[in-house]
Amino acid sequence: MKNYKIAIIPGDGIGPEVVREGLKVLDAVSKKYDFTTNQTFFDYGGERYLKTKQVLSDEELNGLKAFDAIYLGAVGHPDVKPGILERGILLKLRFELEQYINLRPVKLYNNVPTPIKNKGPEHIDYVVVRENSGDVYTGEGEIKNQGTTDEVATQVMVYTHKQVERCLKFAFEYVMKLHAQKPWKGLSAEDIKAGYVGKLTLCGKNNVLTNVFGLWDRVLADLSKQYPKVKTDYFHVDAMCIFLIEAPERFDVITTTNMFGDIITDLAAVTQGGMGVAPSGNINPNGVSMFEPVHGSAPQFTGKGVINPLAAILTVKLMLEHLKQDKAAADIDAAVQKVMLTMKSMLVGQMGYSTSQIGDMVVEALR
Ligand code: IPM
Ligand code: MN
Repeated sequence: MKNYKIAIIPGDGIGPEVVREGLKVLDAVSKKYDFTTNQTFFDYGGERYLKTKQVLSDEELNGLKAFDAIYLGAVGHPDVKPGILERGILLKLRFELEQYINLRPVKLYNNVPTPIKNKGPEHIDYVVVRENSGDVYTGEGEIKNQGTTDEVATQVMVYTHKQVERCLKFAFEYVMKLHAQKPWKGLSAEDIKAGYVGKLTLCGKNNVLTNVFGLWDRVLADLSKQYPKVKTDYFHVDAMCIFLIEAPERFDVITTTNMFGDIITDLAAVTQGGMGVAPSGNINPNGVSMFEPVHGSAPQFTGKGVINPLAAILTVKLMLEHLKQDKAAADIDAAVQKVMLTMKSMLVGQMGYSTSQIGDMVVEALR
Protein backbone atom coordinates (compact mmCIF):
# COMPACT_ATOMS: atom_id res chain seq x y z
CA MET A 1 0.00 0.00 0.00
CA LYS A 2 1.28 3.44 -0.93
CA ASN A 3 2.25 5.59 2.05
CA TYR A 4 2.87 9.33 1.94
CA LYS A 5 4.86 11.26 4.50
CA ILE A 6 3.04 14.54 5.04
CA ALA A 7 4.43 17.43 7.08
CA ILE A 8 1.63 19.41 8.68
CA ILE A 9 2.11 23.05 9.66
CA PRO A 10 -1.23 24.22 11.10
CA GLY A 11 0.27 27.66 11.84
CA ASP A 12 -1.55 30.63 13.33
CA GLY A 13 -5.05 31.96 13.86
CA ILE A 14 -7.65 29.87 12.08
CA GLY A 15 -4.93 27.73 10.46
CA PRO A 16 -5.28 24.83 12.94
CA GLU A 17 -9.10 24.80 12.63
CA VAL A 18 -9.16 24.51 8.86
CA VAL A 19 -6.26 22.04 8.78
CA ARG A 20 -8.18 19.79 11.22
CA GLU A 21 -11.06 19.62 8.71
CA GLY A 22 -8.71 19.09 5.79
CA LEU A 23 -7.10 16.16 7.59
CA LYS A 24 -10.49 14.63 8.42
CA VAL A 25 -11.15 14.51 4.71
CA LEU A 26 -7.65 13.27 3.89
CA ASP A 27 -7.99 10.43 6.41
CA ALA A 28 -11.41 9.42 5.08
CA VAL A 29 -10.38 9.47 1.44
CA SER A 30 -7.16 7.56 2.10
CA LYS A 31 -9.15 4.68 3.63
CA LYS A 32 -11.40 4.61 0.62
CA TYR A 33 -8.57 4.61 -1.95
CA ASP A 34 -6.14 2.35 -0.13
CA PHE A 35 -3.26 4.59 0.67
CA THR A 36 -1.94 5.73 4.01
CA THR A 37 -0.42 8.95 5.23
CA ASN A 38 2.19 9.36 7.88
CA GLN A 39 1.52 12.78 9.40
CA THR A 40 4.10 14.78 11.34
CA PHE A 41 3.04 18.05 12.96
CA PHE A 42 5.26 21.11 13.25
CA ASP A 43 4.49 24.15 15.43
CA TYR A 44 6.18 26.74 13.20
CA GLY A 45 4.36 30.04 13.39
CA GLY A 46 3.67 33.18 15.38
CA GLU A 47 2.93 31.58 18.77
CA ARG A 48 6.23 29.74 18.79
CA TYR A 49 8.07 32.84 17.60
CA LEU A 50 6.63 34.90 20.46
CA LYS A 51 7.79 32.27 22.97
CA THR A 52 11.19 31.37 21.53
CA LYS A 53 12.10 34.11 18.98
CA GLN A 54 12.67 31.23 16.56
CA VAL A 55 11.15 31.54 13.07
CA LEU A 56 12.39 28.62 10.98
CA SER A 57 15.94 27.35 11.29
CA ASP A 58 17.94 25.84 8.46
CA GLU A 59 17.84 22.44 10.20
CA GLU A 60 14.07 22.60 10.45
CA LEU A 61 13.86 23.60 6.83
CA ASN A 62 16.13 20.75 5.76
CA GLY A 63 14.05 18.34 7.83
CA LEU A 64 11.06 19.11 5.64
CA LYS A 65 12.89 17.87 2.56
CA ALA A 66 12.28 14.30 3.70
CA PHE A 67 8.51 14.59 3.20
CA ASP A 68 6.34 13.84 0.18
CA ALA A 69 4.35 17.03 0.70
CA ILE A 70 3.69 19.83 3.19
CA TYR A 71 0.19 20.89 4.24
CA LEU A 72 0.06 24.37 5.75
CA GLY A 73 -2.85 26.24 7.35
CA ALA A 74 -1.84 29.89 7.66
CA VAL A 75 1.06 31.95 8.94
CA GLY A 76 0.59 35.43 10.43
CA HIS A 77 0.11 36.78 13.95
CA PRO A 78 -1.27 40.18 15.06
CA ASP A 79 1.40 40.54 17.78
CA VAL A 80 4.31 40.01 15.38
CA LYS A 81 5.56 42.87 13.22
CA PRO A 82 4.55 42.40 9.54
CA GLY A 83 7.28 40.73 7.49
CA ILE A 84 8.94 38.60 10.15
CA LEU A 85 6.81 35.48 9.83
CA GLU A 86 6.04 36.01 6.15
CA ARG A 87 9.70 36.31 5.23
CA GLY A 88 11.06 34.01 7.94
CA ILE A 89 8.65 31.11 7.42
CA LEU A 90 6.38 31.25 4.39
CA LEU A 91 8.72 32.84 1.87
CA LYS A 92 11.71 30.97 3.29
CA LEU A 93 9.87 27.69 2.67
CA ARG A 94 8.80 28.68 -0.84
CA PHE A 95 12.26 29.94 -1.80
CA GLU A 96 14.54 27.43 -0.11
CA LEU A 97 12.44 24.44 -1.16
CA GLU A 98 12.45 25.88 -4.70
CA GLN A 99 8.69 25.84 -4.96
CA TYR A 100 8.90 28.05 -8.00
CA ILE A 101 5.26 27.75 -9.04
CA ASN A 102 2.24 28.94 -7.12
CA LEU A 103 -0.71 27.14 -8.63
CA ARG A 104 -4.06 28.83 -8.01
CA PRO A 105 -7.08 27.30 -9.73
CA VAL A 106 -10.05 29.65 -9.99
CA LYS A 107 -13.28 27.76 -10.35
CA LEU A 108 -16.80 28.87 -9.54
CA TYR A 109 -18.81 25.87 -8.35
CA ASN A 110 -22.58 25.45 -8.59
CA ASN A 111 -24.55 27.16 -5.82
CA VAL A 112 -21.62 29.41 -4.95
CA PRO A 113 -22.55 33.07 -5.32
CA THR A 114 -20.19 35.29 -7.30
CA PRO A 115 -20.32 39.07 -7.01
CA ILE A 116 -20.12 39.29 -10.82
CA LYS A 117 -23.53 39.80 -12.37
CA ASN A 118 -24.49 37.47 -15.22
CA LYS A 119 -21.53 35.13 -14.76
CA GLY A 120 -21.79 31.52 -13.64
CA PRO A 121 -19.72 28.35 -13.33
CA GLU A 122 -19.50 28.12 -17.12
CA HIS A 123 -17.61 31.43 -17.23
CA ILE A 124 -15.25 31.21 -14.27
CA ASP A 125 -12.94 28.23 -14.64
CA TYR A 126 -9.27 28.95 -15.19
CA VAL A 127 -5.91 28.45 -13.50
CA VAL A 128 -3.31 31.01 -12.51
CA VAL A 129 0.29 29.84 -12.65
CA ARG A 130 1.96 32.45 -10.46
CA GLU A 131 5.75 32.58 -10.60
CA ASN A 132 6.80 32.01 -6.99
CA SER A 133 10.54 32.61 -6.68
CA GLY A 134 11.48 35.99 -8.12
CA ASP A 135 10.28 39.57 -8.49
CA VAL A 136 10.16 42.09 -5.64
CA TYR A 137 9.79 39.12 -3.29
CA THR A 138 13.51 38.33 -3.34
CA GLY A 139 14.26 41.16 -0.92
CA GLU A 140 16.82 42.73 -3.24
CA GLY A 141 17.04 46.44 -2.59
CA GLU A 142 18.07 48.86 0.11
CA ILE A 143 17.25 51.86 2.22
CA LYS A 144 19.57 54.85 2.03
CA ASN A 145 19.59 57.88 4.32
CA GLN A 146 16.93 56.38 6.55
CA GLY A 147 15.13 58.88 8.74
CA THR A 148 16.10 61.89 6.64
CA THR A 149 14.07 63.64 3.97
CA ASP A 150 16.60 62.26 1.48
CA GLU A 151 15.60 58.69 2.27
CA VAL A 152 15.53 56.38 -0.75
CA ALA A 153 13.98 52.93 -0.58
CA THR A 154 14.31 50.38 -3.37
CA GLN A 155 12.88 46.90 -3.78
CA VAL A 156 13.95 45.41 -7.04
CA MET A 157 11.89 43.44 -9.55
CA VAL A 158 14.40 40.75 -10.51
CA TYR A 159 14.00 37.88 -12.96
CA THR A 160 16.56 35.59 -14.48
CA HIS A 161 16.12 33.81 -17.79
CA LYS A 162 16.15 30.49 -15.95
CA GLN A 163 13.35 31.52 -13.60
CA VAL A 164 11.17 32.75 -16.44
CA GLU A 165 11.85 29.72 -18.59
CA ARG A 166 11.03 27.13 -15.93
CA CYS A 167 7.82 28.94 -15.04
CA LEU A 168 6.64 29.22 -18.63
CA LYS A 169 7.60 25.63 -19.34
CA PHE A 170 5.50 24.50 -16.40
CA ALA A 171 2.60 26.64 -17.65
CA PHE A 172 2.78 25.24 -21.20
CA GLU A 173 2.95 21.69 -19.86
CA TYR A 174 0.03 22.44 -17.58
CA VAL A 175 -2.13 23.56 -20.53
CA MET A 176 -1.22 20.38 -22.44
CA LYS A 177 -2.07 18.16 -19.47
CA LEU A 178 -5.30 19.99 -18.70
CA HIS A 179 -6.58 19.41 -22.22
CA ALA A 180 -5.05 16.04 -23.00
CA GLN A 181 -8.54 14.54 -23.42
CA LYS A 182 -10.55 17.42 -24.75
CA PRO A 183 -9.72 20.91 -26.04
CA TRP A 184 -10.56 23.95 -23.92
CA LYS A 185 -14.11 25.09 -24.53
CA GLY A 186 -13.09 28.72 -25.05
CA LEU A 187 -11.39 27.96 -28.37
CA SER A 188 -13.07 29.00 -31.62
CA ALA A 189 -13.75 26.64 -34.53
CA GLU A 190 -10.76 28.15 -36.34
CA ASP A 191 -8.55 27.59 -33.32
CA ILE A 192 -9.55 23.94 -33.20
CA LYS A 193 -8.92 23.63 -36.91
CA ALA A 194 -5.50 25.15 -36.39
CA GLY A 195 -4.78 22.36 -33.91
CA TYR A 196 -4.94 24.29 -30.66
CA VAL A 197 -5.98 22.47 -27.48
CA GLY A 198 -5.79 25.32 -24.98
CA LYS A 199 -4.54 28.80 -24.26
CA LEU A 200 -1.79 30.33 -22.18
CA THR A 201 -2.16 34.02 -21.33
CA LEU A 202 0.81 36.00 -20.11
CA CYS A 203 -0.14 38.80 -17.73
CA GLY A 204 2.48 41.55 -17.55
CA LYS A 205 3.19 45.22 -17.98
CA ASN A 206 5.52 45.39 -20.96
CA ASN A 207 4.63 49.00 -21.71
CA VAL A 208 6.36 50.18 -18.51
CA LEU A 209 8.44 47.32 -17.09
CA THR A 210 10.24 46.91 -20.38
CA ASN A 211 13.28 45.03 -19.09
CA VAL A 212 11.47 42.37 -17.13
CA PHE A 213 8.60 41.80 -19.53
CA GLY A 214 10.89 42.07 -22.52
CA LEU A 215 12.51 38.95 -21.07
CA TRP A 216 9.16 37.23 -20.41
CA ASP A 217 7.91 38.08 -23.93
CA ARG A 218 11.04 36.68 -25.56
CA VAL A 219 11.03 33.46 -23.59
CA LEU A 220 7.31 33.00 -24.25
CA ALA A 221 7.84 33.43 -27.99
CA ASP A 222 10.77 30.99 -27.96
CA LEU A 223 9.01 28.32 -25.95
CA SER A 224 5.75 28.60 -27.83
CA LYS A 225 7.53 27.06 -30.84
CA GLN A 226 7.86 23.87 -28.79
CA TYR A 227 4.15 23.92 -27.93
CA PRO A 228 2.34 24.51 -31.23
CA LYS A 229 -0.93 23.24 -29.74
CA VAL A 230 -1.03 25.98 -27.14
CA LYS A 231 -2.40 29.31 -28.27
CA THR A 232 -0.74 32.23 -26.49
CA ASP A 233 -1.86 35.76 -25.81
CA TYR A 234 -0.94 38.66 -23.59
CA PHE A 235 -2.66 41.20 -21.35
CA HIS A 236 -1.29 44.05 -19.30
CA VAL A 237 -2.06 43.47 -15.62
CA ASP A 238 -4.34 46.51 -15.40
CA ALA A 239 -6.43 45.30 -18.33
CA MET A 240 -6.39 41.83 -16.79
CA CYS A 241 -8.20 43.28 -13.76
CA ILE A 242 -10.96 44.47 -16.07
CA PHE A 243 -11.29 41.18 -17.93
CA LEU A 244 -11.22 38.94 -14.86
CA ILE A 245 -14.46 40.73 -13.93
CA GLU A 246 -16.02 41.47 -17.31
CA ALA A 247 -15.02 38.41 -19.32
CA PRO A 248 -13.41 35.68 -17.19
CA GLU A 249 -14.46 33.11 -19.78
CA ARG A 250 -11.59 34.38 -21.92
CA PHE A 251 -9.08 32.61 -19.73
CA ASP A 252 -7.77 29.08 -19.62
CA VAL A 253 -4.33 29.22 -18.01
CA ILE A 254 -2.84 32.57 -16.99
CA THR A 255 0.80 32.92 -16.04
CA THR A 256 2.35 35.95 -14.40
CA THR A 257 5.05 37.32 -12.13
CA ASN A 258 5.06 36.86 -8.37
CA MET A 259 3.66 40.26 -7.34
CA PHE A 260 1.05 40.55 -10.08
CA GLY A 261 0.08 36.95 -9.35
CA ASP A 262 -0.39 37.74 -5.68
CA ILE A 263 -2.73 40.60 -6.53
CA ILE A 264 -4.79 39.12 -9.36
CA THR A 265 -5.39 35.87 -7.47
CA ASP A 266 -7.06 37.74 -4.59
CA LEU A 267 -9.28 39.46 -7.15
CA ALA A 268 -9.91 36.12 -8.82
CA ALA A 269 -10.68 34.44 -5.49
CA VAL A 270 -13.47 36.92 -4.86
CA THR A 271 -15.03 36.03 -8.21
CA GLN A 272 -15.00 32.32 -7.34
CA GLY A 273 -16.85 32.87 -4.09
CA GLY A 274 -14.24 34.32 -1.78
CA MET A 275 -11.35 33.26 0.41
CA GLY A 276 -13.46 30.47 1.88
CA VAL A 277 -13.06 28.39 -1.26
CA ALA A 278 -9.70 29.32 -2.83
CA PRO A 279 -6.92 26.68 -2.65
CA SER A 280 -3.28 26.87 -3.72
CA GLY A 281 -0.17 24.80 -4.17
CA ASN A 282 3.47 25.89 -4.02
CA ILE A 283 5.01 23.48 -6.46
CA ASN A 284 8.55 22.24 -6.86
CA PRO A 285 8.16 19.81 -9.77
CA ASN A 286 11.39 18.07 -8.70
CA GLY A 287 11.15 18.28 -4.93
CA VAL A 288 8.83 18.89 -2.00
CA SER A 289 5.69 20.92 -2.66
CA MET A 290 3.58 22.76 -0.11
CA PHE A 291 -0.17 23.17 -0.16
CA GLU A 292 -2.03 26.02 1.57
CA PRO A 293 -5.35 27.81 1.25
CA VAL A 294 -5.04 31.30 -0.29
CA HIS A 295 -6.56 32.87 2.82
CA GLY A 296 -4.49 34.03 5.80
CA SER A 297 -4.71 33.43 9.53
CA ALA A 298 -7.79 35.68 10.10
CA PRO A 299 -6.97 36.07 13.83
CA GLN A 300 -10.23 37.87 14.64
CA PHE A 301 -12.16 34.66 13.92
CA THR A 302 -9.89 32.20 15.72
CA GLY A 303 -11.64 29.47 17.70
CA LYS A 304 -15.15 30.59 16.80
CA GLY A 305 -15.90 27.79 14.37
CA VAL A 306 -17.15 30.26 11.77
CA ILE A 307 -14.47 29.88 9.11
CA ASN A 308 -15.17 28.04 5.87
CA PRO A 309 -12.82 25.03 5.71
CA LEU A 310 -13.55 24.29 2.05
CA ALA A 311 -10.48 26.22 0.86
CA ALA A 312 -8.33 24.00 3.09
CA ILE A 313 -10.23 20.90 1.95
CA LEU A 314 -9.84 21.80 -1.73
CA THR A 315 -6.17 22.32 -0.92
CA VAL A 316 -6.01 18.66 0.14
CA LYS A 317 -7.50 17.85 -3.24
CA LEU A 318 -4.67 19.76 -4.96
CA MET A 319 -2.14 17.93 -2.80
CA LEU A 320 -3.59 14.55 -3.80
CA GLU A 321 -3.53 15.49 -7.48
CA HIS A 322 0.12 16.32 -7.02
CA LEU A 323 0.70 12.94 -5.34
CA LYS A 324 -1.01 11.33 -8.35
CA GLN A 325 -4.04 10.15 -6.36
CA ASP A 326 -6.32 11.53 -9.06
CA LYS A 327 -9.36 9.45 -8.16
CA ALA A 328 -9.22 10.45 -4.52
CA ALA A 329 -8.81 14.09 -5.58
CA ALA A 330 -11.81 13.90 -7.90
CA ASP A 331 -13.85 12.30 -5.12
CA ILE A 332 -13.06 15.20 -2.78
CA ASP A 333 -14.06 17.63 -5.48
CA ALA A 334 -17.41 15.90 -5.97
CA ALA A 335 -18.02 15.71 -2.22
CA VAL A 336 -17.25 19.43 -1.81
CA GLN A 337 -19.69 20.26 -4.59
CA LYS A 338 -22.39 18.20 -2.89
CA VAL A 339 -21.85 20.00 0.41
CA MET A 340 -21.84 23.40 -1.30
CA LEU A 341 -25.41 22.75 -2.47
CA THR A 342 -26.63 22.71 1.12
CA MET A 343 -24.63 25.68 2.43
CA LYS A 344 -26.29 29.08 2.83
CA SER A 345 -23.13 30.98 1.92
CA MET A 346 -19.38 30.52 1.54
CA LEU A 347 -18.69 33.52 3.78
CA VAL A 348 -17.42 33.61 7.37
CA GLY A 349 -20.22 33.00 9.87
CA GLN A 350 -22.92 32.78 7.21
CA MET A 351 -22.52 29.20 6.08
CA GLY A 352 -25.47 27.82 8.06
CA TYR A 353 -23.01 25.34 9.63
CA SER A 354 -19.90 25.46 11.76
CA THR A 355 -16.36 24.82 10.50
CA SER A 356 -16.29 21.27 11.84
CA GLN A 357 -19.81 20.47 10.62
CA ILE A 358 -18.71 21.33 7.09
CA GLY A 359 -15.73 19.00 7.44
CA ASP A 360 -18.01 16.21 8.68
CA MET A 361 -20.41 16.80 5.82
CA VAL A 362 -17.64 16.48 3.24
CA VAL A 363 -16.51 13.22 4.86
CA GLU A 364 -20.12 11.99 4.79
CA ALA A 365 -20.48 12.95 1.12
CA LEU A 366 -17.42 10.86 0.24
CA ARG A 367 -19.22 7.67 1.10
C1 IPM B 1 -0.11 34.82 -0.48
C2 IPM B 1 0.24 35.78 0.62
C3 IPM B 1 1.76 35.85 0.76
C4 IPM B 1 2.30 36.38 -0.56
C5 IPM B 1 2.26 36.69 1.93
C6 IPM B 1 1.62 36.28 3.24
C7 IPM B 1 3.75 36.68 2.03
O1 IPM B 1 -0.32 37.01 0.39
O2 IPM B 1 0.22 33.64 -0.37
O3 IPM B 1 -0.73 35.24 -1.47
O4 IPM B 1 2.40 37.60 -0.76
O5 IPM B 1 2.63 35.56 -1.40
MN1 MN C 1 -1.64 37.07 -1.33
